[in-house]
Amino acid sequence: MHTISRKRHILGALIALGLAAGAVPAHAVQKGDWLIRGGLGHVAPTGESGTVPVVGGKVEADSSTNLAVNFTYMTTDNVGVELLGALPFRHDITHNTLGKVAETKELPPTLILLYNFSPKSGVRPYAGVGVNYTAFFSEKTTGALAGTSIKLDDSFGLAAEAGVDVDIDKDWFFNASVWRMDIDTKADSSLLGKFDVAIDPWAYFVGVGRRF
Ligand code: NI
Repeated sequence: MHTISRKRHILGALIALGLAAGAVPAHAVQKGDWLIRGGLGHVAPTGESGTVPVVGGKVEADSSTNLAVNFTYMTTDNVGVELLGALPFRHDITHNTLGKVAETKELPPTLILLYNFSPKSGVRPYAGVGVNYTAFFSEKTTGALAGTSIKLDDSFGLAAEAGVDVDIDKDWFFNASVWRMDIDTKADSSLLGKFDVAIDPWAYFVGVGRRF
């Protein structure tokens, strides 16, 4: 919760900056443009597992930050297709009574069809829906599960996004964006057996972009 409110402050500051910058000459985004954005991505899971076999209780994944990049191609002045990518996010997996029992890395590439509400403005909010594929890898056990193995299935699900670009000059802009992703996996523990784990994160991005 704390993390989410901090991100809201960052979003609020960027939007305020955008309103202040709204007076500078606007540079339109139009059909055929590529928008490339680089910055920091933060994945904040909200889900938890079903009841863990054998030991009972639940596990959940903690949040993680790494470098992220996204590419948008504008198919019309208003409509774009965006691909989100990142370096791997590392998450601790914590059991409610046993503490940290595992960690994993994941990559959540997300493809979004978006609508840009004001492509002719220096402040361009947009929103869209799409799909997320999340690959889990480098799973490791620790603590109570040390010495055993755990595997997490990949996930495929829906995603939604909202964001805003705020012009710095005619080529460069700030971006802040947020995704809600439906990410659910099945854990297969050599000690405990199989159980479902909902990750269902909010993902946040802040960075700079360039228009090509
Ligand atoms: Ni879910």
